[in-house]
Amino acid sequence: MNEHVTQPIESSAPSRLPDAQTVTAVKHWTDTLFSFRLTRPQSLRFRSGEFVMIGLSGENGKPILRAYSIASPSWDDELEFYSIKVPDGPLTSMLQNIKPGDEVILRPKPVGTLVLDALIPGKRLFMLATGTGIAPFASLIRDPETYEKFDEVILTHTCRDVAELEYGKELVKNLKEDPLVGEEASQKLKHYPTTTREPSEHEGRITDLIESGKVFEDLEVEPMNSETDRVMICGSMAFNLDIRNICEARGLVEGSNSRPATFVLEKAFLGE
Ligand code: A2P
Repeated sequence: MNEHVTQPIESSAPSRLPDAQTVTAVKHWTDTLFSFRLTRPQSLRFRSGEFVMIGLSGENGKPILRAYSIASPSWDDELEFYSIKVPDGPLTSMLQNIKPGDEVILRPKPVGTLVLDALIPGKRLFMLATGTGIAPFASLIRDPETYEKFDEVILTHTCRDVAELEYGKELVKNLKEDPLVGEEASQKLKHYPTTTREPSEHEGRITDLIESGKVFEDLEVEPMNSETDRVMICGSMAFNLDIRNICEARGLVEGSNSRPATFVLEKAFLGE
């Protein structure tokens, strides 16, 4: 009937759930955001930017699964994820309580369009994220291929509050020390965090900052154009639609795995 029904627990068996992986680390960033790391199945191959289904076993033994972008790069021994916490959310109300040593279900079938393969060659890569939409870019900015393919990489991250930007800030800070991509990232990556409901260095929705040209002035770069620029987008539905319009107005064309073009878009997986 259901292949995912939990088997009776054998105390000697290390892994009880089908497709179970072990939690190796958990970090709570705010009362609504956390990240965690899982062991990686040896057979799992993925392209940086893709997502998988992960989850926990519900009360009746049925798995509760949601799509999560893999936030770690494809060369990493472990898998990292970044999630919101929804108090009454079927999955994240439980998932936010995981501890190292616990097990999480992971279906090892990575998919997604926020991949370098879905873009035709260009000079600059814009990665535009809101909220947990930064997760796929956390993977891509740690992937050497990103810097092989592009001369300049611009990561924007818009959140309501300053505290919600911390995951991205720490990621970019640590990147400088990364033995694999540290040097290239230091030269090529520009990070532009913005807040919309609390004062910070850069304020406002990135959509408005692109339209006004302020983001380009602040970064001292040329405005976005379809000749040299490729764009990856990951945020809420409303954000994605607005940014898609902005890209199309500038002559960019949406791409996919089967038809690479100049921008790609995916809804941030909110966990619930
Ligand atoms: P705002 O505070 O002005 O709504 P959320 O937490 O609702 O997912 O939003 C995450 C961030 O994305 C917030 O800073 C929010 O700004 C911004 N945002 C939401 N919708 C849009 C949109 N349509 N265009 C640009 N930014 C958006």
